[in-house]
Amino acid sequence: MSSSSTSITEPNPLQGEFQPAGPTDLRAPCPALNSLANHGLIARSGRNITAAELTSAVRYLGLGSDVAYLLVGSAFKVHSDDHNNPPPGARWSGLRDPKQFNADGIPVLNLDQVGRPHAIEHDVSLTRQDRLLGDYMDLNPDLYEGLLSSPRDSSTFRVSDLGRFRKLRYDQQKQTNENLDFDKKKHFIACAEVAAISTVFGQGLRRKVPRRYIEAVFGEERLPYDEGWRPRSWKVFLPEVAVFVLGASWYAWPF
Ligand code: HEM
Repeated sequence: MSSSSTSITEPNPLQGEFQPAGPTDLRAPCPALNSLANHGLIARSGRNITAAELTSAVRYLGLGSDVAYLLVGSAFKVHSDDHNNPPPGARWSGLRDPKQFNADGIPVLNLDQVGRPHAIEHDVSLTRQDRLLGDYMDLNPDLYEGLLSSPRDSSTFRVSDLGRFRKLRYDQQKQTNENLDFDKKKHFIACAEVAAISTVFGQGLRRKVPRRYIEAVFGEERLPYDEGWRPRSWKVFLPEVAVFVLGASWYAWPF
């Protein structure tokens, strides 16, 4: 019988129930993936997550099959630091190590690998410090306060607010990080994150995100069910993502 650290007086939380990460759980620099883990919609330990599990979790949030396929497919490639000539099957944007499989031979990923260097993690995050300046994985309280005080209407985050805040963050990091690593590719990845948060958690045609949802997802890494959020019934397909990426980029463009 395998040993378990779970005592009989502390039963495992039910799937879907929120429980913050414990000290040995692995987490990502992504508030959405961390929220999924904190609700048990992917492994709470943050370890040995399969592509099928991640796909079903991001589809549950409301991503369409095309967006989920692209995101998860890219994440589950083996990582290569060689951006121009990666070995067959590997990619710069991949996050797995070579030969990283579970006992059944299925490819798996740990959440901390989502922050691996030379992949998709980037400088100029909304709420994380740049890699060379500090903690690029966890929420930075000062940046989080800055995010919360950034929208023009304090109760709601429009794509324009998030885009403008991205531009402000670029200007800040340009001043403080003399080795800033942020090119057009990283800019569009960062705008895709804005598009993801807006399309999944936003309301109405313009996908305005209520401040209390931002506080739940960023501040507590919790899905904002208590605040009224429910997964979208009409899914987010690539054309919608593209519109929101371009919208965010319009306000965030720093070059
Ligand atoms: C396979 C799925 C996903 C992967 C591999 C992924 C990966 C990442 C990574 C690497 C970052 C860190 C970027 C940085 O350095 O700032 C990040 C941040 C972020 N992600 Fe995800 N993500 C995924 C799904 C999602 C989804 C579904 C959403 C929204 C519902 C989302 C929203 C965000 C946001 C808003 C940030 C920015 C955090 C910040 O700048 O402080 N992500 N994600």
